[in-house]
Order: sequence, then C-alpha cells, then structure tokens
Amino acid sequence: SQSGSTDGPEVVGPLVRPRRLRTTPAMRRMVAETAVAPHQLVLPVFVREGLAEPRPISSMPGVVQHSRDSLLRAVAEAAELGLGGVMLFGVPTDEHKDATGTQALDPTGILNRAINDVVAEVGDALVVMSDLCLDEFTDHGHCGVLTPDGRVDNDRTLELYAAMALAQADAGVDMVGPSGMMDGQVRVVRDALDHAGHTDVSVLAYSAKYASAFFGPFREAVGSSLEGDRRTYQQDPANAREGVREALLDVEQGADVVMVKPALAYLDVVRRVRDAVDVPVAAYNISGEYAMVEAAAAHGWIDREAAILETLTSIHRAGADVILTYWAAEAARLRR
Ligand code: PBG
Repeated sequence: SQSGSTDGPEVVGPLVRPRRLRTTPAMRRMVAETAVAPHQLVLPVFVREGLAEPRPISSMPGVVQHSRDSLLRAVAEAAELGLGGVMLFGVPTDEHKDATGTQALDPTGILNRAINDVVAEVGDALVVMSDLCLDEFTDHGHCGVLTPDGRVDNDRTLELYAAMALAQADAGVDMVGPSGMMDGQVRVVRDALDHAGHTDVSVLAYSAKYASAFFGPFREAVGSSLEGDRRTYQQDPANAREGVREALLDVEQGADVVMVKPALAYLDVVRRVRDAVDVPVAAYNISGEYAMVEAAAAHGWIDREAAILETLTSIHRAGADVILTYWAAEAARLRR
C-alpha cells in the first residue's frame, strides 16, 4: 500500500490486547489482583442451649445450631483449616429470655460457656470472637432494653453492654463484637474492659450496620423473638456517608477493627470505609446473602462453588481485610 510502512507485516486490529493476560490459568493466576486467603475468613457459629445434637437451620442449608459438643468439632476444624477466627452467637432457650437479656451477663449463660469451651479447645489457633448484643437474650428480641413506651433505651442498654463485655472477657474471649448499634457502645465497652484489666481484649465494632431485609434467615438461626424492625437503631440503607461517619466515630472510641454489614448490597460502603480509616475493615457476608446463593444453586440456576468464590472475592476487592462468612470452612477447602 502507498501509506503503510514497508519494513514489517501490516499491523491489523487493536494495538493493546488485555486478553493476552487471560490466555491460560497460570497467566490469570499470576496477574490476579486479589485473592482471599483462609486466614482472612471468620466463621460465624451458633450454639443453642440444651441441644444434644446439632439442629439444621432450614433457611440456611448446611448451617446448624450447634450443641456444645458439635461446636467444639466445628471450631477444631476451623483451626485445622487455618481460618482467621470464629464469631460465636448464643441461643438461649425461651425460658431463659427476659426483658433485659439477663442470661447474656451470666457466666453460666450459653454464650459465656461456649466462649470458655471454645477457648479451651482451640487456644491461640483462632481469634475467638463473640457477638456482644442483647437480641438473642431478650424476650422482645430487640438489641437493647426498652423504655416504658417501647423504644430502645440507648443509655441503659450501654450499661448492660459494658457488663456483657466483662462477662465475655472473663470467659476468655479474644475480641468482642458489639453489634447493637447503640450510640457510644464502643467507648463504654472499651472503658469497661480497660478498667477491669482486660486491656488485651480487642473490639470488632459493627460500625455501619444497616436495617436489612437480608438478615431474615438469621432470625431463624437465633430463634429471634423480634416483632417489627430495628430501624430506630440500625442504619437506613439509603445512607453511605453516614456509614463512614459511624466507622470514624468507632475508631475514635477505640475500635480495633470496624465492620460493614451486610456486605453485598453495601460494597460501596466497604470501599468508602476502607479509604477513610486506618484500622482493618471487616465485612459480614450475612445470612440472606448465603441463603440466596444456596437457594439458587439448589435449583441448579447457578454454579454454587463459583458463586461462593466470586462473592468472597468481590467483598475482598471492595476493601474488606476480614470477611465473616458461613462459607469460611468451605472456601478454605476450595482454595486448597
Ligand atoms: C445482632 C446480629 C444480627 C446479625 C448479626 N448480629 C441480626 C440483626 O441485627 O438483626 C445478622 C447476621 C446475619 O444475618 O447473618 N445480634
């Protein structure tokens, strides 16, 4: 041709071909920007008072309410798989629920006993975490105590959270997870721990926690007594800036790790929080996110394992350093 150079083959097609880095599995693996490692995963586990055998949770296929014995097998496996930690939730019997969640503060309550058992079982091999909230223990199912007219009383609830933190620390927990979205909760928990000499117990703050429909299956998992919703304390899904504000407040109050929850519908919040704070950021891949994938996979509508890995990768890519997920053990096995 008249216009082209004559000292080489004519260049045709795109000059830049990103597909070259996708040609083989080895190439793709080498250039992968993110990978989720087992040590970044935390397994949430439920332990129910009075169970002799684990009991399935129908809305979360594959997840159970543990007996005290089966809990120990689950955490031993989590340690063996190299997970980062476990997050313990206690489920008392209905007779042991009351208006102020008394059992949460009792050293012989199901959650405090479970902490004891788990720490004895796994020692330092896992970070042992516990949910610090009253909703599993109250007969009305709210995360705090109520005023006579039925509103959640922030400051009276804080006093109970402080006492609950001490009960959990005395039981040997490594990290408490205040999840009730009361204002000032991180500070009262930190103060209570420090004044009692538990300066090494760390705080994973549920900082940006949204009033989400995706918590649905969790209500079955913990036998929740809640009627109504948590919209006066959990955040409005419309607000992302407010999530960043909550995370910054929690860091100021002494949070060691801040968390965004749920994860998938809030990946923008995960990213914004990651960019705004200098502590580790966790995200909770919650019950409804689990149930959606499991239900679609059970119908044969999606590839289950691929969907699990893609879900966890997306949360990590959005900025989460730590992911709480019911797939933690399975994902660790898939990554092997
Ligand atoms: C409160 C708590 C909840 C979850 C974790 N901690 C429920 C809620 O706020 O309604 C939800 C976890 C999940 O849905 O997987 N103790």
